[in-house]
Amino acid sequence: MLTADDKKMIQQTWDKVSGHAEAVGEEALWRLFITYPQTKTYFPHFDLTRGSEQVRTHGKKVVNALTNAVKNMDNLSQALSELSNLHAYNLRVDPVNFKLLSQCFQVVLAVHLGKDYNPEVHAAFDKFLSAVAAVLAEKYR
Ligand code: HEM
Repeated sequence: MLTADDKKMIQQTWDKVSGHAEAVGEEALWRLFITYPQTKTYFPHFDLTRGSEQVRTHGKKVVNALTNAVKNMDNLSQALSELSNLHAYNLRVDPVNFKLLSQCFQVVLAVHLGKDYNPEVHAAFDKFLSAVAAVLAEKYR
């Protein structure tokens, strides 16, 4: 459960990030594909070399979806309902992969925010990204 303080920290932190959607998204996906190469199997139709047009465009879409989630933290299930359908029914992404991508986003935030990504902010993001992952995976049941 996200506390009022968590929500505030997430909003403040995401304000610094959302204007760099493409760069942040591309870096998170780059980390995902290098660190957890099995995730590449979902993107056979993509050019996965660093900074490719497809990865940048996709990274931007993912970050914009997270921006939408930040704006709707009290109503995540509804806000992410279509994305949940897409990942469960169409793409059939194994839910373990959501945790891997969350991990990569955390590292990108830590690298770029430095000291501002303190343990409290880290903990708040961990909860938030887990909540997003739970919603994206809930249609598998
Ligand atoms: C597509 C968001 C996790 C695989 C998408 C799209 C968004 C999105 C916004 C585009 C939907 C559209 O075009 O209508 C997210 C978010 C995630 C997440 C917010 C978690 C934080 C994952 C993971 C995988 C994955 C972990 C697999 C490792 C895909 C694939 C597509 C897709 C294969 C379709 C790409 C294409 O053909 O254009 N996702 N995603 N997603 N996602 Fe995710």
